Amino acid sequence: MAEQKATNVHWHEGDITREHREKLLGHKGATLWFTGLSGSGKSTVAVELEGILHEMGIVSYRLDGDNVRMGINKNLGFSAEDRAENIRRIGEVAKLFVDSGQIALSSFVSPYRADRDQVRTLHQEAGMEFIEIFVDCSLEAAEARDPKGLYKKARAGEIKNFTGIDDPYEEPLNPEIHLHSDQQSLEEEVNEILDMLRDRGIVNK
Ligand code: ADX
Repeated sequence: MAEQKATNVHWHEGDITREHREKLLGHKGATLWFTGLSGSGKSTVAVELEGILHEMGIVSYRLDGDNVRMGINKNLGFSAEDRAENIRRIGEVAKLFVDSGQIALSSFVSPYRADRDQVRTLHQEAGMEFIEIFVDCSLEAAEARDPKGLYKKARAGEIKNFTGIDDPYEEPLNPEIHLHSDQQSLEEEVNEILDMLRDRGIVNK
């Protein structure tokens, strides 16, 4: 857990709450946390889902590993410590989106169970929905896809600490949704997620 450095700071409550914003939008806020190997299809599913939600009139926003690492987290690398800080910051950012009434679609390798669980706890403590989606894909399939050519580089020793090659990936033990992106179609995957959003009353369309 990150240390609170600043002292003498006080939370300033506004008049408009998450409930007000959710009422305005007509759906609830939630974080959908996609986790899985690089190349497993996390971003592909998130992009497809974002498009479908948009068509349905539901406001969502994608937070994506590569994109975020070019901005707010450009000072972080891939050591276990930096990955933990990457996930901690994104967890906080996702919470802001939920508080704004939106559905945060967060796609990060997030290989460590403890880091993901910490984000889950942060959400639960704030009474916010957190849905962990394990985008399960065999290393063989992810490596065969190798959309960015990174597995090839990792195998050649040109990238160190690459998840699945010389760095660990800790599978979720109890994800709300377990997709098999090397066996299911994109449509099946998206429908599974939409069903859960409806079951939980996050969306009602
Ligand atoms: S995380 O582990 O901290 O959650 P994140 O999802 O932000 O990772 O970034 C992973 C992306 O960075 C991968 O999809 C890949 O494109 C790229 N990448 C570069 N180096 C590594 C590495 N050593 N391990 C994993 N991904 C890497």
